[in-house]
Amino acid sequence: MTAPTSSSAAAGTVPAARTASTSSSEEITVTTTTDSARPAVDGAVEGTVDNVTGLGAIQSGAARVDVSDKAMINARADVNQLLPLKYGWAWEKYLAGCNNHWMPTEVSMQADIALWKSRDGLTEDERLMLKRNLGFFATAESLVANNIVLAVYRQLTNPECRQYLLRQAFEEAVHTHTFQYICTSLGLDEGELFNMYREVPSITAKDAWALKHTRNLESGEFSTGTPEADQDFLRDLIAFYVVFEGMWFYTGFAQILSLGRRNKMVGIAEQYQYILRDESIHLNFGIDVINQIKAENPHLWSAEFQAEVRGMLKEACELEIEYGKETMPRGILGLNADLTSEYMRFITNRRCVQLGLAEVFPPAENPFPWMSETMDLKKEKNFFETRVIEYQTGGGLSWE
Ligand SMILES: [Fe+2]
Ligand SMILES: [Fe+2]
Repeated sequence: MTAPTSSSAAAGTVPAARTASTSSSEEITVTTTTDSARPAVDGAVEGTVDNVTGLGAIQSGAARVDVSDKAMINARADVNQLLPLKYGWAWEKYLAGCNNHWMPTEVSMQADIALWKSRDGLTEDERLMLKRNLGFFATAESLVANNIVLAVYRQLTNPECRQYLLRQAFEEAVHTHTFQYICTSLGLDEGELFNMYREVPSITAKDAWALKHTRNLESGEFSTGTPEADQDFLRDLIAFYVVFEGMWFYTGFAQILSLGRRNKMVGIAEQYQYILRDESIHLNFGIDVINQIKAENPHLWSAEFQAEVRGMLKEACELEIEYGKETMPRGILGLNADLTSEYMRFITNRRCVQLGLAEVFPPAENPFPWMSETMDLKKEKNFFETRVIEYQTGGGLSWE
Protein backbone atom coordinates (compact mmCIF):
# COMPACT_ATOMS: atom_id res chain seq x y z
CA MET A 1 0.00 0.00 0.00
CA THR A 2 1.54 3.28 -1.03
CA ALA A 3 0.34 6.56 0.34
CA PRO A 4 -0.09 9.31 -2.23
CA THR A 5 2.01 12.15 -0.96
CA SER A 6 1.81 15.89 -1.10
CA SER A 7 5.38 16.04 -2.24
CA SER A 8 7.96 14.13 -4.13
CA ALA A 9 9.53 12.81 -0.94
CA ALA A 10 9.51 9.07 -0.49
CA ALA A 11 6.58 7.70 1.43
CA GLY A 12 7.21 5.92 4.66
CA THR A 13 9.85 8.25 6.00
CA VAL A 14 9.57 11.05 8.47
CA PRO A 15 10.74 14.28 6.89
CA ALA A 16 13.40 16.49 8.37
CA ALA A 17 12.09 19.38 10.44
CA ARG A 18 10.94 22.33 8.37
CA THR A 19 10.66 25.69 9.98
CA ALA A 20 9.87 29.23 9.03
CA SER A 21 13.24 29.68 7.47
CA THR A 22 12.60 27.04 4.88
CA SER A 23 8.92 27.49 4.12
CA SER A 24 8.04 28.89 0.73
CA SER A 25 4.89 30.72 -0.27
CA GLU A 26 2.96 27.62 -0.92
CA GLU A 27 4.84 24.42 -0.48
CA ILE A 28 6.37 22.75 2.50
CA THR A 29 7.84 19.39 1.67
CA VAL A 30 6.07 16.74 3.63
CA THR A 31 5.31 13.11 3.34
CA THR A 32 2.58 10.83 4.54
CA THR A 33 3.38 7.71 6.47
CA THR A 34 2.21 4.27 5.58
CA ASP A 35 2.32 1.30 7.87
CA SER A 36 2.64 -1.81 5.82
CA ALA A 37 2.26 -4.00 8.90
CA ARG A 38 -1.13 -2.56 9.61
CA PRO A 39 -4.11 -3.55 7.49
CA ALA A 40 -6.39 -0.93 6.02
CA VAL A 41 -8.84 0.28 8.59
CA ASP A 42 -11.79 -1.32 6.78
CA GLY A 43 -12.12 -4.01 9.38
CA ALA A 44 -10.84 -2.04 12.34
CA VAL A 45 -12.86 -1.69 15.48
CA GLU A 46 -14.85 1.48 15.17
CA GLY A 47 -14.09 4.27 17.56
CA THR A 48 -16.29 4.37 20.59
CA VAL A 49 -17.36 7.62 22.19
CA ASP A 50 -14.66 7.17 24.82
CA ASN A 51 -11.79 6.80 22.44
CA VAL A 52 -13.10 9.54 20.17
CA THR A 53 -13.30 12.26 22.83
CA GLY A 54 -10.63 10.97 25.18
CA LEU A 55 -12.90 12.00 28.04
CA GLY A 56 -14.36 8.63 29.01
CA ALA A 57 -13.62 6.65 32.18
CA ILE A 58 -9.98 5.69 32.60
CA GLN A 59 -9.37 2.08 31.69
CA SER A 60 -7.00 1.00 34.46
CA GLY A 61 -4.78 -1.87 33.47
CA ALA A 62 -5.65 -1.69 29.77
CA ALA A 63 -2.94 -2.72 27.34
CA ARG A 64 -0.43 -0.01 26.47
CA VAL A 65 -0.85 1.82 23.16
CA ASP A 66 0.81 0.13 20.24
CA VAL A 67 1.73 2.49 17.44
CA SER A 68 -0.02 0.22 14.94
CA ASP A 69 -3.33 0.90 16.73
CA LYS A 70 -3.07 4.58 15.89
CA ALA A 71 -5.09 5.68 12.86
CA MET A 72 -6.34 8.92 11.31
CA ILE A 73 -10.02 8.07 11.74
CA ASN A 74 -11.90 5.41 13.68
CA ALA A 75 -8.82 4.71 15.82
CA ARG A 76 -8.73 2.17 18.59
CA ALA A 77 -5.86 3.82 20.42
CA ASP A 78 -6.20 6.17 23.40
CA VAL A 79 -6.36 9.72 21.95
CA ASN A 80 -4.75 11.16 25.08
CA GLN A 81 -1.37 9.56 24.37
CA LEU A 82 0.76 11.59 22.00
CA LEU A 83 3.63 9.10 22.22
CA PRO A 84 4.49 6.75 20.62
CA LEU A 85 4.32 9.05 17.62
CA LYS A 86 3.05 7.62 14.37
CA TYR A 87 2.67 10.56 11.98
CA GLY A 88 5.92 12.53 12.04
CA TRP A 89 4.61 14.90 9.37
CA ALA A 90 1.84 16.13 11.70
CA TRP A 91 4.26 16.75 14.56
CA GLU A 92 6.68 18.59 12.24
CA LYS A 93 3.90 20.92 11.19
CA TYR A 94 3.00 21.63 14.78
CA LEU A 95 6.65 22.63 15.42
CA ALA A 96 6.78 24.72 12.22
CA GLY A 97 3.57 26.53 13.25
CA CYS A 98 5.06 27.35 16.67
CA ASN A 99 8.25 28.63 15.04
CA ASN A 100 6.16 31.00 12.92
CA HIS A 101 4.43 32.71 15.83
CA TRP A 102 3.45 36.33 15.17
CA MET A 103 0.83 38.86 16.24
CA PRO A 104 -0.81 41.46 13.96
CA THR A 105 -0.19 44.24 16.44
CA GLU A 106 3.56 43.84 15.90
CA VAL A 107 3.13 45.37 12.46
CA SER A 108 2.95 49.14 12.19
CA MET A 109 -0.14 50.48 10.42
CA GLN A 110 1.03 54.11 10.24
CA ALA A 111 1.82 54.18 6.52
CA ASP A 112 -1.41 52.37 5.69
CA ILE A 113 -3.50 54.78 7.76
CA ALA A 114 -1.88 57.79 6.07
CA LEU A 115 -2.44 56.34 2.61
CA TRP A 116 -6.01 55.26 3.31
CA LYS A 117 -6.89 58.72 4.61
CA SER A 118 -5.18 60.71 1.89
CA ARG A 119 -7.55 61.66 -0.91
CA ASP A 120 -5.31 60.53 -3.77
CA GLY A 121 -3.47 57.70 -2.02
CA LEU A 122 -5.53 54.96 -3.60
CA THR A 123 -7.83 54.85 -6.61
CA GLU A 124 -11.52 54.05 -6.16
CA ASP A 125 -10.91 50.66 -7.80
CA GLU A 126 -8.13 49.91 -5.33
CA ARG A 127 -10.35 50.90 -2.42
CA LEU A 128 -13.17 48.65 -3.61
CA MET A 129 -10.79 45.73 -4.11
CA LEU A 130 -9.24 46.25 -0.71
CA LYS A 131 -12.56 46.41 1.14
CA ARG A 132 -13.99 43.33 -0.56
CA ASN A 133 -10.74 41.49 -0.02
CA LEU A 134 -10.78 42.27 3.71
CA GLY A 135 -14.52 41.53 3.83
CA PHE A 136 -13.99 38.01 2.56
CA PHE A 137 -11.16 37.23 4.99
CA ALA A 138 -12.82 38.88 8.00
CA THR A 139 -15.38 36.08 8.33
CA ALA A 140 -13.58 33.35 6.37
CA GLU A 141 -11.02 32.97 9.16
CA SER A 142 -13.86 32.43 11.61
CA LEU A 143 -15.60 29.89 9.40
CA VAL A 144 -12.38 27.93 9.09
CA ALA A 145 -11.79 28.07 12.84
CA ASN A 146 -15.32 26.91 13.63
CA ASN A 147 -14.98 24.04 11.22
CA ILE A 148 -11.72 22.89 12.82
CA VAL A 149 -12.99 23.06 16.35
CA LEU A 150 -16.59 21.92 15.90
CA ALA A 151 -16.41 19.51 12.98
CA VAL A 152 -12.90 18.26 12.25
CA TYR A 153 -11.33 17.90 15.69
CA ARG A 154 -13.72 15.27 16.98
CA GLN A 155 -13.44 13.06 13.92
CA LEU A 156 -9.66 13.06 13.58
CA THR A 157 -8.81 10.41 16.17
CA ASN A 158 -5.06 10.89 16.28
CA PRO A 159 -3.28 12.84 19.02
CA GLU A 160 -0.47 14.29 16.89
CA CYS A 161 -2.99 15.56 14.35
CA ARG A 162 -5.07 17.02 17.17
CA GLN A 163 -1.96 18.72 18.53
CA TYR A 164 -1.58 20.45 15.18
CA LEU A 165 -5.30 21.33 15.05
CA LEU A 166 -4.98 23.08 18.41
CA ARG A 167 -2.10 25.14 17.04
CA GLN A 168 -3.99 25.86 13.82
CA ALA A 169 -7.10 26.94 15.74
CA PHE A 170 -4.99 29.52 17.58
CA GLU A 171 -3.49 30.74 14.31
CA GLU A 172 -6.99 31.24 12.89
CA ALA A 173 -7.78 33.33 15.97
CA VAL A 174 -4.66 35.41 15.23
CA HIS A 175 -5.87 35.84 11.65
CA THR A 176 -9.32 37.00 12.75
CA HIS A 177 -7.53 39.36 15.15
CA THR A 178 -5.64 40.74 12.13
CA PHE A 179 -8.87 41.81 10.45
CA GLN A 180 -10.15 43.37 13.67
CA TYR A 181 -6.85 45.28 13.91
CA ILE A 182 -6.94 46.44 10.29
CA CYS A 183 -10.60 47.45 10.55
CA THR A 184 -9.97 49.47 13.69
CA SER A 185 -6.71 51.02 12.49
CA LEU A 186 -8.16 52.28 9.22
CA GLY A 187 -11.47 53.26 10.79
CA LEU A 188 -13.45 51.06 8.41
CA ASP A 189 -17.16 50.44 8.85
CA GLU A 190 -17.14 47.20 10.85
CA GLY A 191 -20.74 46.39 9.99
CA GLU A 192 -19.96 46.67 6.29
CA LEU A 193 -16.80 44.57 6.57
CA PHE A 194 -18.13 41.76 8.71
CA ASN A 195 -21.42 41.52 6.79
CA MET A 196 -19.89 41.16 3.36
CA TYR A 197 -20.35 37.42 3.49
CA ARG A 198 -24.06 38.11 3.64
CA GLU A 199 -24.17 41.07 1.29
CA VAL A 200 -21.63 40.56 -1.50
CA PRO A 201 -23.00 37.77 -3.76
CA SER A 202 -19.70 36.17 -4.79
CA ILE A 203 -18.57 35.96 -1.15
CA THR A 204 -21.93 34.51 -0.08
CA ALA A 205 -21.70 31.95 -2.88
CA LYS A 206 -18.24 30.78 -1.81
CA ASP A 207 -19.05 30.51 1.89
CA ALA A 208 -22.39 28.80 1.24
CA TRP A 209 -20.64 26.25 -0.99
CA ALA A 210 -18.11 25.38 1.72
CA LEU A 211 -20.74 25.23 4.45
CA LYS A 212 -22.77 22.79 2.37
CA HIS A 213 -19.89 20.35 2.80
CA THR A 214 -19.72 20.65 6.56
CA ARG A 215 -23.46 20.49 7.15
CA ASN A 216 -23.52 16.74 7.89
CA LEU A 217 -20.68 17.05 10.34
CA GLU A 218 -22.22 19.97 12.12
CA SER A 219 -24.88 17.79 13.70
CA GLY A 220 -23.87 16.41 17.10
CA GLU A 221 -24.98 13.00 15.85
CA PHE A 222 -22.33 12.67 13.17
CA SER A 223 -19.53 10.18 13.48
CA THR A 224 -17.22 8.45 11.06
CA GLY A 225 -17.21 4.66 10.83
CA THR A 226 -19.23 3.90 7.71
CA PRO A 227 -17.95 4.46 4.15
CA GLU A 228 -20.65 7.11 3.60
CA ALA A 229 -19.77 9.01 6.77
CA ASP A 230 -16.04 8.70 6.11
CA GLN A 231 -16.56 10.20 2.64
CA ASP A 232 -18.61 13.01 4.19
CA PHE A 233 -15.62 13.75 6.38
CA LEU A 234 -13.30 13.76 3.36
CA ARG A 235 -15.64 16.20 1.58
CA ASP A 236 -15.40 18.55 4.54
CA LEU A 237 -11.59 18.31 4.58
CA ILE A 238 -11.41 18.99 0.84
CA ALA A 239 -13.84 21.90 0.98
CA PHE A 240 -12.03 23.62 3.83
CA TYR A 241 -8.36 22.67 3.58
CA VAL A 242 -7.94 22.35 -0.17
CA VAL A 243 -10.54 24.82 -1.43
CA PHE A 244 -11.02 27.44 1.26
CA GLU A 245 -7.48 27.68 2.55
CA GLY A 246 -5.69 26.31 -0.51
CA MET A 247 -7.53 28.06 -3.34
CA TRP A 248 -9.82 30.85 -2.21
CA PHE A 249 -7.24 32.64 -0.10
CA TYR A 250 -4.86 32.92 -3.00
CA THR A 251 -6.68 35.55 -5.08
CA GLY A 252 -6.74 37.66 -1.94
CA PHE A 253 -3.06 37.10 -1.24
CA ALA A 254 -2.14 38.06 -4.80
CA GLN A 255 -4.25 41.24 -4.62
CA ILE A 256 -2.70 42.52 -1.41
CA LEU A 257 0.85 41.47 -2.20
CA SER A 258 0.47 43.18 -5.56
CA LEU A 259 -0.41 46.43 -3.79
CA GLY A 260 2.50 45.90 -1.41
CA ARG A 261 4.92 45.52 -4.33
CA ARG A 262 3.85 49.02 -5.40
CA ASN A 263 4.53 50.25 -1.89
CA LYS A 264 0.85 50.61 -1.05
CA MET A 265 -0.76 49.32 2.18
CA VAL A 266 2.57 47.86 3.24
CA GLY A 267 1.43 47.02 6.78
CA ILE A 268 -1.46 44.91 5.53
CA ALA A 269 0.83 43.36 2.93
CA GLU A 270 3.26 42.32 5.66
CA GLN A 271 0.44 40.82 7.72
CA TYR A 272 -0.74 38.90 4.64
CA GLN A 273 2.75 37.52 4.21
CA TYR A 274 2.54 36.00 7.70
CA ILE A 275 -0.97 34.73 7.05
CA LEU A 276 0.15 33.17 3.78
CA ARG A 277 3.04 31.50 5.57
CA ASP A 278 0.61 30.01 8.12
CA GLU A 279 -1.92 29.04 5.48
CA SER A 280 0.64 27.21 3.38
CA ILE A 281 1.20 24.89 6.36
CA HIS A 282 -2.56 24.54 6.95
CA LEU A 283 -3.00 23.56 3.31
CA ASN A 284 -0.19 21.03 3.39
CA PHE A 285 -1.42 19.56 6.65
CA GLY A 286 -4.87 19.11 5.07
CA ILE A 287 -3.39 17.49 1.96
CA ASP A 288 -1.37 15.07 4.09
CA VAL A 289 -4.39 14.24 6.27
CA ILE A 290 -6.49 13.48 3.20
CA ASN A 291 -3.76 11.42 1.56
CA GLN A 292 -3.13 9.49 4.77
CA ILE A 293 -6.84 8.71 5.19
CA LYS A 294 -6.85 7.54 1.57
CA ALA A 295 -3.85 5.29 2.20
CA GLU A 296 -5.45 3.72 5.25
CA ASN A 297 -8.91 3.46 3.68
CA PRO A 298 -8.42 2.91 -0.05
CA HIS A 299 -12.05 1.87 -0.53
CA LEU A 300 -13.11 5.49 0.13
CA TRP A 301 -11.12 6.84 -2.82
CA SER A 302 -13.22 5.18 -5.51
CA ALA A 303 -13.23 6.27 -9.14
CA GLU A 304 -16.66 7.78 -8.54
CA PHE A 305 -15.48 9.72 -5.51
CA GLN A 306 -12.39 10.96 -7.35
CA ALA A 307 -14.61 12.26 -10.15
CA GLU A 308 -16.73 14.02 -7.56
CA VAL A 309 -13.69 15.67 -5.96
CA ARG A 310 -12.44 16.89 -9.34
CA GLY A 311 -15.89 18.37 -9.91
CA MET A 312 -15.72 20.09 -6.51
CA LEU A 313 -12.39 21.72 -7.34
CA LYS A 314 -13.63 22.88 -10.73
CA GLU A 315 -16.77 24.38 -9.21
CA ALA A 316 -14.69 26.07 -6.51
CA CYS A 317 -12.45 27.58 -9.19
CA GLU A 318 -15.45 29.02 -11.00
CA LEU A 319 -16.74 30.57 -7.78
CA GLU A 320 -13.34 32.17 -7.23
CA ILE A 321 -13.30 33.57 -10.75
CA GLU A 322 -16.61 35.31 -9.98
CA TYR A 323 -15.12 36.69 -6.78
CA GLY A 324 -12.18 38.07 -8.79
CA LYS A 325 -14.62 39.91 -11.05
CA GLU A 326 -16.61 41.33 -8.17
CA THR A 327 -13.53 42.58 -6.34
CA MET A 328 -11.93 44.03 -9.49
CA PRO A 329 -14.69 44.99 -11.95
CA ARG A 330 -12.29 47.24 -13.87
CA GLY A 331 -8.97 45.92 -12.67
CA ILE A 332 -6.20 47.82 -10.93
CA LEU A 333 -2.64 48.56 -11.98
CA GLY A 334 -0.91 45.25 -12.75
CA LEU A 335 -3.87 43.09 -11.78
CA ASN A 336 -7.27 42.22 -13.19
CA ALA A 337 -9.89 39.48 -13.09
CA ASP A 338 -8.51 37.74 -16.19
CA LEU A 339 -5.12 37.33 -14.53
CA THR A 340 -6.57 36.09 -11.23
CA SER A 341 -8.75 33.62 -13.20
CA GLU A 342 -5.66 32.25 -14.90
CA TYR A 343 -3.90 32.08 -11.55
CA MET A 344 -6.82 30.19 -10.02
CA ARG A 345 -6.82 27.62 -12.82
CA PHE A 346 -3.09 27.15 -12.25
CA ILE A 347 -3.68 26.70 -8.50
CA THR A 348 -6.60 24.31 -9.08
CA ASN A 349 -4.45 22.06 -11.25
CA ARG A 350 -1.76 22.01 -8.57
CA ARG A 351 -4.25 21.00 -5.90
CA CYS A 352 -5.46 18.15 -8.12
CA VAL A 353 -1.91 16.85 -8.46
CA GLN A 354 -1.32 17.12 -4.71
CA LEU A 355 -4.38 14.92 -4.15
CA GLY A 356 -3.27 12.42 -6.77
CA LEU A 357 -5.96 13.46 -9.26
CA ALA A 358 -5.78 14.34 -12.93
CA GLU A 359 -5.74 18.09 -13.58
CA VAL A 360 -9.12 19.62 -14.40
CA PHE A 361 -7.91 22.38 -16.72
CA PRO A 362 -5.53 22.41 -19.67
CA PRO A 363 -1.99 23.23 -18.48
CA ALA A 364 -2.08 26.76 -17.05
CA GLU A 365 0.81 29.15 -16.45
CA ASN A 366 1.36 30.97 -13.19
CA PRO A 367 0.83 34.64 -14.09
CA PHE A 368 2.26 35.76 -10.72
CA PRO A 369 5.73 34.21 -10.40
CA TRP A 370 6.55 37.07 -8.05
CA MET A 371 4.18 35.71 -5.39
CA SER A 372 6.70 33.40 -3.74
CA GLU A 373 9.58 35.83 -4.19
CA THR A 374 7.66 38.69 -2.61
CA MET A 375 7.01 36.57 0.42
CA ASP A 376 10.30 34.89 0.88
CA LEU A 377 12.62 37.84 0.40
CA LYS A 378 11.36 40.15 3.08
CA LYS A 379 9.46 38.27 5.70
CA GLU A 380 12.15 36.86 7.93
CA LYS A 381 14.09 40.10 8.10
CA ASN A 382 11.08 42.24 8.83
CA PHE A 383 9.60 39.69 11.12
CA PHE A 384 12.56 39.20 13.39
CA GLU A 385 13.55 42.85 13.41
CA THR A 386 10.06 43.70 14.61
CA ARG A 387 9.98 40.93 17.16
CA VAL A 388 13.31 41.74 18.73
CA ILE A 389 12.37 45.37 19.21
CA GLU A 390 8.99 44.46 20.64
CA TYR A 391 10.46 41.99 23.09
CA GLN A 392 13.15 44.38 24.29
CA THR A 393 10.86 47.30 24.87
CA GLY A 394 7.52 45.67 25.50
CA GLY A 395 7.88 45.20 29.25
CA GLY A 396 4.65 43.27 29.21
CA LEU A 397 5.96 40.42 31.26
CA SER A 398 6.71 41.10 34.87
CA TRP A 399 7.01 38.23 37.28
CA GLU A 400 7.87 40.13 40.42
FE1 LIG B 1 -6.32 31.59 8.55
FE1 LIG C 1 -5.96 28.49 7.83
